[in-house]
Amino acid sequence: MSKNEIKVVFVCLGNICRSPTAEFVFRDLVEREGLTNRLLIESAGTGGWHVGESPDSRSAAAARRRGVELGGSARKILTADFARFDYVIAMDADNVHNLARLAPSAAAKSKVHLFRDFDPASPKGSEVPDPYYGEGGFEKVFDICQAANAGLLAFLREEHGF
Ligand code: 4NP
Repeated sequence: MSKNEIKVVFVCLGNICRSPTAEFVFRDLVEREGLTNRLLIESAGTGGWHVGESPDSRSAAAARRRGVELGGSARKILTADFARFDYVIAMDADNVHNLARLAPSAAAKSKVHLFRDFDPASPKGSEVPDPYYGEGGFEKVFDICQAANAGLLAFLREEHGF
């Protein structure tokens, strides 16, 4: 398999809470599994309000308590991302809806998946709750991302034979 053959982008609304958490938890898992060279991992938002910003300090603090450093800066998902990525992984049903509208073709639309559907322990259609306006919930987002990413990696291993 060639370098960075499988390209994954995690998508939420603002790209400052949920999708950077999913991205960096997945990067951490993939690195620990020795698969860094097989995967290209990014994140983006369907909304543009926070473009250029670092991850939300509350998300960063929750991740740091669990040994994961968040990084990167927020960007908005583009139509062109459907050509660049193999898997466009949405945090909630609104994200799926907005991504489906942005997708330029049926093939592009079929790249959109709901993140928690990769977690065999989550009921089909489960979402990653938006923690932005809440009081906490950032640790829960981290836990959800860990569980869903374990399922995602198992799925990719099966699908791509590594
Ligand atoms: P995220 O959280 O989608 O998990 O990054 C949000 C961040 C910002 C806003 C909403 C959700 N906002 O409305 O600005």
